[in-house]
Amino acid sequence: MFNPRLTETLTDFPFARLNALLAPITPPSHLSMINLSVGEPQGAMPSFARDIVNQEVDGWNRYPPNQGLPELNQAICEWLTRRYKLPKGLLDPERHVHPTAGSKEGVYIIATVATPQQKAGARPVVALPNPFYQAYFGGAVLSGAEPLLVDANDSNGFLPCFDQIDEATWKRITVVYLCSPANPQGAIASIDYLQKLLLLCRKHDAVLAVDECYAEIYTGAAPPGALEAALAMDETGGKDPFRNLAVFHSLSKRSNAAGLRSGFVAGDPRIIAMVLRWRTYGGPQIPFGVQKASAALWREETHPPVTREWYRKNFRVAEQILHNRFGYYTPGGGFFLWLDVGDGEEATRKLWREAHLKVLPGGYVYRADAGRPNAADKYIRVALVHDEKTTREALTRLGQVL
Ligand SMILES: Cc1ncc(COP(=O)(O)O)c(C=O)c1O
Repeated sequence: MFNPRLTETLTDFPFARLNALLAPITPPSHLSMINLSVGEPQGAMPSFARDIVNQEVDGWNRYPPNQGLPELNQAICEWLTRRYKLPKGLLDPERHVHPTAGSKEGVYIIATVATPQQKAGARPVVALPNPFYQAYFGGAVLSGAEPLLVDANDSNGFLPCFDQIDEATWKRITVVYLCSPANPQGAIASIDYLQKLLLLCRKHDAVLAVDECYAEIYTGAAPPGALEAALAMDETGGKDPFRNLAVFHSLSKRSNAAGLRSGFVAGDPRIIAMVLRWRTYGGPQIPFGVQKASAALWREETHPPVTREWYRKNFRVAEQILHNRFGYYTPGGGFFLWLDVGDGEEATRKLWREAHLKVLPGGYVYRADAGRPNAADKYIRVALVHDEKTTREALTRLGQVL
């Protein structure tokens, strides 16, 4: 009765596995539970955005437009222009951007949007990093493509070497996913890396799907983006600089607004048009109040530095407590620690049993082919999403127990 891709392939969602792993263990009741397993920012969304949603009285009985309110699309284009120093007026709010219900929706649907039944006479392939964010894998599998997981490990700076894929496979690739800054390792793709990958995608008529939802959370310099990388090698005089490229952004991290469910896709107008078509058939429109609040959030530039400082403080705490242990490094972007603890599952159990801390075994966000070891088994992923005091308490317990 059911789709076997759901019943047979998509059976091991990390948080379901984590719950099963911890269920038999009783944590110590004298310690408060600190959840470091989910990447859910615990800071507050700016109150002006909440007020805008609350003030929305008229729109609840009407269908919002699929293509996004002009004020939202305009605010997104202006933000991209500021953030990536693009020429003013280059981005067209009607052609280059499209709002989505969080970046998760965008990265999930892009595989289906861009994958035909066959490519080069064979089953299409969707390439993604390994470890990976689950929606890439779900999108790849449910599009009917064969997922190709490409290792991102410490030997390649945690950036997958898609250029080592053989030519015959490249011909079958429809979509390449990249996450920069990366969840979980925090690696940032350089302009050079992005340009080379985009050229490879163009050569093989594949979509480069760059998930930039952590673009505003960084510890050093602001991470470059794929739109600016594409523009810097444009040879069309600005007419078609983003060919084959889609980037995905979100307010969940930038504005502590995970519950707002607001993001967007930007890039090649051909891709944007097909995303719009896909969403007119099956996608959720975004409520008026959410669109209006989102427009205001993309326009407002004083709160993201405050958000960044929240995480920088946490990384300073992590550096103090963990600096010479577990292969600690302060990531370039994002808010995760990716700690080499030897045995990720065992460490996760121990942290729950002895310290009432919930973390995620690294192996749960990695997939090994049959017969190959899970290269992320030795890691745990620790989301530093709490305030500084809670983070200090959590990492002190972690350092004592492991
Ligand atoms: C890498 C990555 N992409 C996308 C998302 C989706 O976020 P949202 O849909 O809230 O924008 C997340 C959420 O944690 C993520 O870690």
